[in-house]
Amino acid sequence: MRLIEEKILKYGKVYPGNVLKVDSFLNHQVDVPLIAALAQEIYQHYNSCAVTKILTIEASGILLAGMTAQLFHVPMLFAKKSAAKNMSDGVYTAKVRSFTHGNEYTMVVSKEYLNKDDKVLLIDDFLADGNALRGLMEIVKAAGAVTVGAGIAIEKGFQQGGDKLREEGLDIFSLAIIGSMDAQEGVTFRSAM
Ligand code: G4P
Repeated sequence: MRLIEEKILKYGKVYPGNVLKVDSFLNHQVDVPLIAALAQEIYQHYNSCAVTKILTIEASGILLAGMTAQLFHVPMLFAKKSAAKNMSDGVYTAKVRSFTHGNEYTMVVSKEYLNKDDKVLLIDDFLADGNALRGLMEIVKAAGAVTVGAGIAIEKGFQQGGDKLREEGLDIFSLAIIGSMDAQEGVTFRSAM
C-alpha cells in the first residue's frame, strides 16, 4: 500500500458532503517528508516529458508543486484566486466553479510567467470534479503552451472528474484514488481506469 493511502486510512476523516478531511498531514498541518515522497513519485512519472514549469492553484497544492519543481529544476507558478471581475490585460484568467465550496472564482496568472514554449505540469492536492484542472488547462492553452499532465495527491475517483479528463487524453498521475468513502464504512482505493 502506498504511503499516502496509509496516511488517509490512519488519519483521514470522512465528513458529510463527501469531504475527506486530511488536515493533519495535507491541508493544514503538513507532513513534509510525505509531500517530498509524493513529489519524487510525480517526478519519476513525468521525468521524460521535458517539463519547463509547474503550475498549481493556491493554496494547499503549493508545497507539493514547489517540491516537484525543485526536482525538475524549473519554476513553480501558482494561479491566484480572485473575486474581481475586471482584470488587467497582463493576465490570463479562467472562471472556475467549485462543487465543494459551492462558489465561483476567477483564477489569474500573469502573462509574464507563462509563454508558448512552456511544457506545463499541473499539480494539485485534490482532484474532485476536475474544474480547477480545467481552469488551469484553459490558462495554459491561452498562453499557447502545452499541458503535459497533472500530478495529484488525492483523487476522489467516485466524482469522475479525473476519469473524464483521462478520456479526453490528459495524463493524470494520482498518488491515491479513492473508490468510495463513508463515515461508517471508511475509505477504499482503486487504480486508474
Ligand atoms: P475540482 O476542482 O476538482 O472540481 O474540485 P472542487 O472545486 O470541488 O474543489 C474545491 C476545493 O476543495 C479545492 O480546494 C479542493 O482541493 C478541495 N477539495 C475537494 N474535495 C475535497 C475533499 O474531499 N477534502 C478536502 N480536504 N478538500 C477537498 P481549494 O478551494 O483550491 O482550496 P485550498 O485548500 O487549495 O486552498
